[in-house]
Amino acid sequence: MDKKWWHKSTVYQIYPRSFCDSNGDGIGDLKGIISKLDYIKKLGVDIIWLSPVYKSPNADNGYDISDYYDIMDEFGTMEDMDCLIAEAKQRGIGVMMDLVVNHTSDEHTWFIEARKSKDNPYRDYYIWSDPVDGHEPNGLKSIFGGSAWEFDKDSGQYYLHFFADKQPDLNWENADMRQKIYDMMNFWIDKGIAGFRMDVIEKIGKEPFKMIEDNGPMLHTYLREMNENTFGKRDLITVGECWAADTEIAKLYSNPARQELSMAFQFEHICLKGDKWYPKPYDLQDLKKVMSKWQNELYNCGWNTLFWCNHDLPRVVSAFGDDGKYRVESAKMLATLLHCMQGTPYIYQGEEIGMTNVKFPSIDDYDDIETLNMYKERIATGEEENVIMQSIYASGRDNARTPMQWDDSENAGFTAGIPWLRVNDNYTYINAKSCQNDNNSIFWHYKKLIDFRKNNDVIVYGNYSLIEEDNDKVFAYERSHDDTKVVVVCNFTSDNAAFGYKGDCSVMMMCLSNYSDSPDLSESMTLRPYEAVVYKNN
Ligand code: GLC
Ligand code: CA
Repeated sequence: MDKKWWHKSTVYQIYPRSFCDSNGDGIGDLKGIISKLDYIKKLGVDIIWLSPVYKSPNADNGYDISDYYDIMDEFGTMEDMDCLIAEAKQRGIGVMMDLVVNHTSDEHTWFIEARKSKDNPYRDYYIWSDPVDGHEPNGLKSIFGGSAWEFDKDSGQYYLHFFADKQPDLNWENADMRQKIYDMMNFWIDKGIAGFRMDVIEKIGKEPFKMIEDNGPMLHTYLREMNENTFGKRDLITVGECWAADTEIAKLYSNPARQELSMAFQFEHICLKGDKWYPKPYDLQDLKKVMSKWQNELYNCGWNTLFWCNHDLPRVVSAFGDDGKYRVESAKMLATLLHCMQGTPYIYQGEEIGMTNVKFPSIDDYDDIETLNMYKERIATGEEENVIMQSIYASGRDNARTPMQWDDSENAGFTAGIPWLRVNDNYTYINAKSCQNDNNSIFWHYKKLIDFRKNNDVIVYGNYSLIEEDNDKVFAYERSHDDTKVVVVCNFTSDNAAFGYKGDCSVMMMCLSNYSDSPDLSESMTLRPYEAVVYKNN
């Protein structure tokens, strides 16, 4: 497989609203991001993915775009954006833009026009239907609750929205619309961005009248057309958000021979937690199976993304580790397991300092549309409030969206004003400043892992094999490339765990660990709670 620059990269995701506020209005902004580029550089990442910064009425915090050619008022101006791209570039950091083209805002001019009449030239940019027997055309559901069809009184038709009713779905069958999207992408490419993260891209091939939502028959045709008309001839990184991808589908997206995307962001390991609002503990054997399957099946014919969390998911230490006693150990262990695999790692802001989920006392403290809609629906069915709050504490998207914890000053140093969303109270001891001052911190561990990948082809290109498959506490694997071998051993429990390595231990040296005195690799060894050790031959 041809080598690509982004094979060695690590991506850092920024949720701009919650990252850093430069002007005291309580909302993070582009100037705030610029002021933290040196922090990001210090971590060693070379790409930042910005959640949407385009003009938006914020029904879904920027995932409802009203103008792709302009910047959200609260975030700054196009000059600030150009400045961010330039300042990042100077530090060797590329900017990856969020591309939200499955839908627009209902305040986008295309939709405002489309709504005017059935024969408006923009009408067909969206998906409309006459009522059937006086009702919605079919039973398609919105991911944010209720029907996916919203009635438009003026024209007497329904329009489709897989998300909020303020996020009407674009009709990708319309070739003019597709061309306008490609023009817009080229506008951003010409500004010197490093690539695109493609929001719910698996939905653009939808066929709503056949009840097909994801992976529609035209999906990959559209992606190849997009590739050819936009980023294909440039050396960019592209990643598609694909909840419904299995390994075969992921190869369609990411096999370089097909000229679609660089990689697919898939969630099979995340889904081991079960139902979103009623999550259960995951089973370590299942996690091993799923992660190993993706490592093995995409080897040499596709490319993986490696991540535990993002702006839609709970914090990794809370969901997969221990956010109490072993917060630091488990955060480092989970990072180690992931970053030594093959693929491009994604770090979500605050993950590198071990930020945790949050439990706000009242629903009024929450902002996320998905959370609020779910709350209203369940209250309406008579469910008890405290049961609903447990769902929110476990899985609500605001867990990831509380302001970044920079230091122990008021509001965690995020803003001099009143933050748009409450800060997690634990900022007094979980913050970036204290992490940077302590070279045993989670931050420094991430930095070491990022450097390790950059300097070791075995991590980037080596093959993968699971070892001690049946061990019910330890997840361990080997990577090998030419004569180099790496062994990664991770205890997933808060107990001691036994492990034994069958190969030649004498040549394996410890090179990374989350305890100061981890054991040498041997055929019979004991790991402490959440201990993670990486060995490499010399
Ligand atoms: C994606 C985004 C999410 C957003 C949705 C609609 O899943 O990650 O935040 O709400 O798409 O754009
Ligand atoms: Ca601001």
